[in-house]
Parts: sequence; structure tokens; C-alpha cells
Amino acid sequence: MYISNDIRYIGVNDHKIDLFEGQYVVPNGMAYNSYIIMDEKTAVMDSVDGNFTQEWLDKIAAELNGRKLDYLVVQHMEPDHSASILDFTKAYPEAKIVSSSKAFAMMKNFFGTDFAEKQVVVNEGSKLCLGKHELNFVTAPMVHWPEVIMTYDSTDKVLFSADAFGKFGALDVEEDWACEARRYYIGIVGKYGSQVQAVLRKAAKLDIATICPLHGPVLSENLGYYINLYDIWSSYRPEEEGVVIAYTSIYGNTKKAVMQLAEQLEAKGCKVVVNDLARCDWAEAVEDAFRYSKLVLATTTYNADIFPFMRQFIDHLTERNFSNRTVAFIENGTWAPVAAKIMKGMFEKSKELTFAENTVKIMSALNAESSAQLAALAEELAAGSIETVEEAPKGPSKRFECSVCGYIYEGETLPEDFVCPICQLGAEVFEEIE
Ligand code: FEO
Repeated sequence: MYISNDIRYIGVNDHKIDLFEGQYVVPNGMAYNSYIIMDEKTAVMDSVDGNFTQEWLDKIAAELNGRKLDYLVVQHMEPDHSASILDFTKAYPEAKIVSSSKAFAMMKNFFGTDFAEKQVVVNEGSKLCLGKHELNFVTAPMVHWPEVIMTYDSTDKVLFSADAFGKFGALDVEEDWACEARRYYIGIVGKYGSQVQAVLRKAAKLDIATICPLHGPVLSENLGYYINLYDIWSSYRPEEEGVVIAYTSIYGNTKKAVMQLAEQLEAKGCKVVVNDLARCDWAEAVEDAFRYSKLVLATTTYNADIFPFMRQFIDHLTERNFSNRTVAFIENGTWAPVAAKIMKGMFEKSKELTFAENTVKIMSALNAESSAQLAALAEELAAGSIETVEEAPKGPSKRFECSVCGYIYEGETLPEDFVCPICQLGAEVFEEIE
């Protein structure tokens, strides 16, 4: 696959993978992307998972067609991209390795050598000229490890973005980008929102035509759409108005209350997503919690604590800086319910959370009192900032595209004082598009 005349795709698809990073289900497999730049000098961008080393080396050899290989650029040392480095050095002993100093230290740990005689150490602002192509290196610490660098090819306006803008799923399966990119981002990079924001600010200064991530498809159209989603996710803003109800239920009584609440919210026009934490994909449930504006947690008191799946779920949220949302609680207990208090306590260090005024206390099974609490909670959640389905704006709106970064503004008119949230430029750089 050609990314441009000189840049070709040499990555692989993995359909045998069980769990990505040892924990994420990937029903549509995984892609480990790698690219080769053919110029006066030749450079390979990252390697692939160790199960695909030979397939990758064969692809390199086919592209080189007898030419010398000059550089391997290592942007990220997580083994899904770095496991083939050692075999690469055997196949191409003369090639230099271009990477950050932190990455070379990691190579020593992984391979017992930091390839001292092959090192080209790069940092923020370093450049590497391949002939026609100039590679500009951008540090991206904690997106998603501390050694990460991104690479901008100023000739073809290509950003090699490491894990950023990646998604789950092999490239030979067609699926919606945002769904699996969001689950990937929130699960894997979600804790590092401020670092992603810092990289987005650097990227805003670059003229980018194509994004080549280490997972998922190459992005070359409507880049503002993807960048805007990354801006929302990394700033912990809800992407959509809606209520997520995450619950555990032992004998069905908590579930009954959850379903009743969901029905009442839907009847009021709210978008509602319900997740049974004992049975659903936990990463999907975490993704939903970050996607929507309001979260209801329903669980039982268990061993004077809360049900284990709920404890684990809240840990997943808080360790990823869950914030800027409304949270409500439903507790169930037969003799001494403490679940609501414990759940609320688990968010003690979270920022910018609003707790609903109404908490539902079920003693074993719903009765008149707890049903009334449930109705009051539905009323509270549906009021205020909830944008009901009926109230959502209807009809086509106009679209204005930032001519610098591709950000799309939707609305009847573009305000004169509008400032692009990505590149900080004013309304004058926006053009109306179809
Ligand atoms: Fe795709 Fe952080 O490795």
C-alpha cells in the first residue's frame, strides 16, 4: 500500500491474538503498522509484534528490492512495535537505529544491548534528512510510554503518530473508526490526557495531510474529525449527553431497579446505555462512562464492601482521571447497605464530579419508598443539562472547516469571534464546506 509515492505500508494484521496488552478483547484482531520511506536514504518506521517478524522482514526486502537499508526509526518501545528489532539488526547489520535516549535504555533492558554502535539519538526538534524527505522529531512522553517520539515528514506532510490515533482491529476488517479508537484511547492512553493535549498543541503547528499511526488505518481525509475527538477525549469532556447505568446484580433485584430507571429515562427522552459489569466487556463499559455525561452506579453491599466487579470498574474510572460528569448511586442491601457510601468514597480524589442529590436505597427488593426514590432520580437526571432526544436540534446544519487544521464547526452560522479549539486561529481561516 502506498501512503505517498515514497512512503509505503509494511505492517501486518494479527487475527490470532487472544487479548491485546494481555487484557483487551479484540474481536476484529489487531494491526501493527510499520512504514518504509524510499528516498536517497531508506528508513523503516517501527517494527512489529514478535509473531510477525518474518512477514515484516519479507515486506521490507520486497520494497527495498536489493537496495541498502539505512535507518530503523523506533518511536515506541512497547513490544507490539519493538519485538522485531533484534532480528532486524541481524538482517540489516549496517542500518542505524534512530530513537530517543529513553528508548535506547529500554532496548538494553529488553535485548541486553542498547546497540551503542548503531545509535542515532534524537530529541525534540531533531531532524534527519533522507534526501528529499526531512524527518522532524517530536517528543510525546506518556503517549503512551515515556520514551515515545512522533515523526513529521515535512516533505509529504505525514505525521507518524506512534500509538496516537490508533485503534483496535486489523486493517482487513471494515468497522467504524470512532468506536474502537475510543475504546483503545480511553483504555490505553486515557490516564494521560494532559500529555495528549500537549502533543495536540504541537501538532496544531504542523501542516498535516496524513496521519500514520502504529495501529488502525492511515488517516488522510477529514483530519479535523479525528483531531477533535482526541481533543474531547484528552480533555475529559463528555462527548455526548446521555446516561450510562453500570450495575451488578446477584439475584436480579438490583437489575430490576436499573431497568426501571432506564425505562423512565428513555420515556423522558434521554439517551441511555446499560452495562451489566459481570457480563459485558469492561473496556466497553469504561469507554461508555467516558463517552456520556452522566453515570449511574448500581450495586449491592457485599462482604461489608461493594460487589467486586463494581469496585474494579470504579478503579478503572478513577485511575483514568474520570471527571467533568454527574454520578448517581443505587445501592442494595438486605441488612446493612453501605454500597452508596463506599462507591462515593472511591471518587474522593476525582475532580469536577457532581453527585446527584437523589440516591436510591433498596432493602433487598424495590418497594414503594425505593421506587419513589428511583422516580426522583430519573427526574433529576433528565432535567438540567440533559439534552433529550426530542429537544436535540433537527435538520441539516452548515459545516465550516478550518483551512489550517481541518477542524469542523457545525452550526447555522460561524460566530465572528469563533476561535478554532485546535489551532487557535480565528473565523477568517474557516471555509464553509458541503
Ligand atoms: Fe501500540 Fe503502546 O503500544
